[in-house]
Amino acid sequence: MGIHILTICYLIASVTFILGLKMLSHPETARRGNLLAAAGMAIGIFGTIFLFEHEVDGSKEHLSNITLIFVALAIGAILGFISAKKIQMTAMPEMVSLFNGMGGACAMLISLIEFNHYLHTATLPVGDIIFLTEELTTVSVIAIVAGLVIGSISFAGSIIAWGKLRGIIKDTSFKGQRNLNMFFLLVLVCAVALFIVKTPFTGSGLGGYSLPFADGSGSAWGITSFHIYLFYGILALSLLYGVLFVLPIGGADMPVVISLLNSFTGVAAACAGFMYDNQAMLTGGILVGAAGTLLTILMCKAMNRSLLNVIIGSWGGAAAAVGAASTDHGAYKEISLSDAAMVMNFANKVMIVPGYGLAVAQAQHICHELEKILEEKGVEVKYAIHPVAGRMPGHMNVLLAEADVNYEKLLEMEQANDEFKTCDVVLILGANDVVNPAAKNDPASPIYGMPILEVEQAKTVIVNKRSMKPGYAGIENDLFYQPKTSMLFGDAKKVLQDLCAEIKTV
Ligand code: TAP
Repeated sequence: MGIHILTICYLIASVTFILGLKMLSHPETARRGNLLAAAGMAIGIFGTIFLFEHEVDGSKEHLSNITLIFVALAIGAILGFISAKKIQMTAMPEMVSLFNGMGGACAMLISLIEFNHYLHTATLPVGDIIFLTEELTTVSVIAIVAGLVIGSISFAGSIIAWGKLRGIIKDTSFKGQRNLNMFFLLVLVCAVALFIVKTPFTGSGLGGYSLPFADGSGSAWGITSFHIYLFYGILALSLLYGVLFVLPIGGADMPVVISLLNSFTGVAAACAGFMYDNQAMLTGGILVGAAGTLLTILMCKAMNRSLLNVIIGSWGGAAAAVGAASTDHGAYKEISLSDAAMVMNFANKVMIVPGYGLAVAQAQHICHELEKILEEKGVEVKYAIHPVAGRMPGHMNVLLAEADVNYEKLLEMEQANDEFKTCDVVLILGANDVVNPAAKNDPASPIYGMPILEVEQAKTVIVNKRSMKPGYAGIENDLFYQPKTSMLFGDAKKVLQDLCAEIKTV
């Protein structure tokens, strides 16, 4: 009976994961989607704790270590709650990376435990042997090793990614690193193949050796200690590969790598779900794996880069220097606060382009305030959202949703590019790379080919940032020197506060 109810719990959990994921794709339903999936996860967890039965000496028993499980749950929940409450939006990729690393570590530990669960020692007339008793199929061995390899790479890689985003670990690359990585990957693949071929499967006759028990009650497939060393060797190699794989990847590519590692964790969790015959874990893992893969592809597309280029290419450095040095820009012009207020006050349509600087300044609320003031004055206000504005996917949507900006006002890049020509003013708030025309005009630029917001189609462009320093890609922006562009220097929050006050007096 308990088992049937448990199956229903897993079904409910799986359905809520799918619905939650679907709801996450729109800002209006995203919060509810998150809560729905979390509720499904709670049903899955508590169903397993209270209803799962396993065989002990021929009889069915419930889990016995409930206290330990609840202590672990409480510690995890408290730590998760506090860190989610305290985290700054700009530090979100760091947190995603750390949590993803924990998922990878879980998958790795599950594989370790499961492998040891199959191992037994017996005393035979010829001495002690280590053997595999349970029905160990080829597929379950593959699931154990896949979970071990993918989980370990994801764990080690995510921790390095977290360290790099925190600034604790520097980008490290050396001559021949790519070849070394390829070599380690090759050794890892060979070790895994050897392990699978050499694992003795009950009755299959593959690998190992068959020996009779001393009491004559049967026989077992013994394995050599080399086999066990090989398993732990695969673990060490996977961890090492995870570190080496992420170390040389450049800062701006980190969110892509984090998303890729996220999909790895999903696949590793799916392997664990397969091992435990747990449908909710399997569905959850597959969903995370698929969603992470799609997100990785979409981010690469938004930056016009191939995944291979992200993984083995280099960002910034020499290429950035070429782009920066290639143009003589001339002078830029500044606009005063009162002039900016005047221009916007008498405009028919203003398009706001938010970027990373808006997030850093935490200026989303005052930005919404400006929008309301302008609308009271009869100005139409919309927002142009570039898919990689900020430092993580959907960064600007989340930020503006936090300030209660109406979702209908947020235009995706293609829509915005169609509408810029109808705008009197484009107000750029702490955005740089996503409006850099070098992406269209300068083949030497590292962002060449990246689709951008074509703000120069509007009548007037006002750019707010604190200085003439470049953005994340480290390259200069020709837009700032164009005749229709005016710079409005200062911290985004302070400038917007002053602008609001000024427009009210016009
Ligand atoms: P950036 O190009 O990084 O430019 C942000 C600008 O904000 C900077 O030039 C900075 O100039 C300004 N700024 C910083 N603090 C400010 C403050 N307090 N007030 C006003 N301005 C401030 O940002 P973007 O245009 O949003 O582009 C995003 C970049 O990140 C792209 O290169 C993109 O490829 C990369 N990236 C994004 C993602 C995702 S998924 N979003 C993933 C990977 C990479 P000052 O220092 O002069 O103020």
